[in-house]
Amino acid sequence: MSGKVRKRNITKHEQQTNGNEKANLKSRSVSRGSHGILIILFMMVAITWGIAASAYFGLVDYKALIGIKDSSQLYEKTSANAVSNDDSAKDSGFSKDHTNDKKISGEPTDHVDGEASTKEEQPQAESKMKPTQEKNKKKSSQAKTSSSSLKAKSGSSNQLSLEQNKTLLKQLQEGDELLKKKKVNEALSVFEKIISSNPSSPSAIFGKAEALNQKSLQQRSNKILIESLKFYDQVINLPNCPKKLKKKAGLIKAERHIFLGQLKEAVITLKKMAETFPRDTDILNQLGVSYLYVGNTEKAQKVYAKVLSIDPDNGFAQVHFGFILKTAGDWIKGAYYLKLGIESMAEGTQEGKFYFHLGDALHRTNRSTEADEIYKLGAKNGLFKSKYQRSLYNVNRLQSHPFWTPAEAKVNNYVKTLESKWKMIRDEALNVMDVEKGLFISEEESLKDTGDWKQLTLYARGQPQKDCKRLPKTCALVSKMPNAHGCTRGQIKFSIMMPGTHVWPHTGPTNCRLRMHLGLVIPKTGQGAWLRCADQNRTWEEGKVLIFDDSFEHEVWQNAESFRLILIVDVWHPDITEHEKKTLSPI
Ligand code: LMR
Ligand code: MN
Repeated sequence: MSGKVRKRNITKHEQQTNGNEKANLKSRSVSRGSHGILIILFMMVAITWGIAASAYFGLVDYKALIGIKDSSQLYEKTSANAVSNDDSAKDSGFSKDHTNDKKISGEPTDHVDGEASTKEEQPQAESKMKPTQEKNKKKSSQAKTSSSSLKAKSGSSNQLSLEQNKTLLKQLQEGDELLKKKKVNEALSVFEKIISSNPSSPSAIFGKAEALNQKSLQQRSNKILIESLKFYDQVINLPNCPKKLKKKAGLIKAERHIFLGQLKEAVITLKKMAETFPRDTDILNQLGVSYLYVGNTEKAQKVYAKVLSIDPDNGFAQVHFGFILKTAGDWIKGAYYLKLGIESMAEGTQEGKFYFHLGDALHRTNRSTEADEIYKLGAKNGLFKSKYQRSLYNVNRLQSHPFWTPAEAKVNNYVKTLESKWKMIRDEALNVMDVEKGLFISEEESLKDTGDWKQLTLYARGQPQKDCKRLPKTCALVSKMPNAHGCTRGQIKFSIMMPGTHVWPHTGPTNCRLRMHLGLVIPKTGQGAWLRCADQNRTWEEGKVLIFDDSFEHEVWQNAESFRLILIVDVWHPDITEHEKKTLSPI
C-alpha cells in the first residue's frame, strides 16, 4: 500500500473552487492511499468552521513563520495567528491559519465520518485473548469479512467466546453507526460500555477516541480533544493492537497534536510510530512534516531521503525533499524533485507552494520557459489566481491588476500627504542612514540575485517596530493612516538599493494589500532603476507615489550609479471589508 503512488486527477471542482491556504491542510494531512479517515477528519475541521491547519515551513525561520508560540488552532480561539514577520517569498504558502481566506484548491465536501473501527478488527474479543490467540487474531485481522474471521477464530475458541465475539462485533458496529450519524454521546456510551467489559479492546478504545475527537469538533472544545488524545495513545500502546489500527491512531493523534499547536508532541508520536513501522512511508512522510513544523529541516531532509530510498516514486516525499533542497539554495536538485513530485499527482503534491517554488527554482536556473509553464499550469489548476498573481493567502473576490492609481486604490489623501511631506521623510531617513547605518537590515528572504538591498521597517503586521521612534516625524505621519499602519498584512518600511542590484522575480504573500512606493532618492544616471510588475515596467520619481499590487510577480533592477531610496507603505486593498481588516490573520 505504501508502495505505489496513487494517481489523482484534479477534479473540476478543485479547479473551479477558488481560495487558498486552507488547502494546505491537505498536503500536511495524509500522504497517500488508505488514510481516508484522516482526510475526512481534516476536511471536517476545514469545512466545519473554516480553520485549516495549513502551512508548515517557510524559507528562513520556520518557527517564526508558523508562530510556534502562538501556533495552535485551538477550538476556543477566535482570531487567527501570526504568520510571518515579513514579506514575499519567505511566506510562499507555508504560513499557518488564515481563517478568512478562501480555498484555492477545494476538497470535495461530501464525506463520511467516523470510520472508527476497521472491519477486520471488529470481531475480536481482544482483551480476552491469550498470546497464542493473538497470533490468530493477527491472521484474522486480514480476513475479508467479519463473519469469516469469526469463523476462523471459532476453531480455537469455545462457543461462549464466539457469542462474546458476536456481541462485541455488534456493539462495535453500533458505535460506528452512531459515529457516522454524528451521534457522538450515544457512540461514546456504546464504546464505554464495551470498554467496561473489555478494558483493553483496541477497537473500542479507538472508537472512544474517535467519538471524543468528533465531539470536540462539534463543541469546538480543546479539553475534549485533549481527552481524546489519551485514548488514541492507549490504542497505540496496547500490546494486542492490530498494526493497522495502531498506525491509524498514531497518524490521527499526531495530526491532532499539530492542530493544537503541540508540535513537539506530534514529533514524539510520529517518532515512536516510525520505530514500530520503520519502513512505513506514510508515517515517515508525516514525521518529515512534523520535523518541518518544529524547524528541524535537517531531520526532515533525512526522513524524506529515507522514504525515497524505500520508494523512489513517492510523490509526497519528492515534493517535500525538493522543497527543502530548493529553500536551502539547491535550486537544481530542488527543481528536480519538486517536478517529479508534482508530476506524480500523488496526494499532497498539488499545492500552490510546490508549484511556486518549482517555478522559482526553474527561473533561477535559466529554465524560464519551463517556469512559465508551471505558473500557467498552477493557474489553470486553481492554485494561483493567474500565472502572474501567485500570492497564496488570498481573498478571492478582490479586483486585481498590477498598477493602481490613487483614486482606484482609494488612497488619495494618503498620497497627497506623502507627496507633500516627501522631503521631510527623505531627510529623516537620510539622517538615520548617516547616524546609524546598522538600522538598515539586509533583505533576508533570498529574493536578491545580485547587489545590496537593505530595509528599515517601521511597521509590520499592523504593529510599530522598535526603530519607529528613530524616525519620529515619519512615524507620526503614517500613524494617521489607519489603512496603512493598521494593515496587518503589510509593512511600512524604507528600502535602499545599491547600484548593481537585481531582485529575482517574486510574488508577495497576499492579495489583500496594495503597495505604495514613495520615491525619495531616485538616481537617473547609468541605466537607472526600474520595477517590472507583471508585464509592465515603471520607474520611480522623487516626491511621487507609485502604487502596485505586489501579489503579482515583480522584479527590480538597480543599474544606476548611486543608491535608490524609497518609502514602502502597504495599504489594505480597497475591497477588503472592515471586518476582514480586523479578522484576517497577520502576515
Ligand atoms: C518590492 O516591493 O519587492 C520591491 O519593489 C522593493 C524595492 O525596494 O524596490
Ligand atoms: Mn516585493
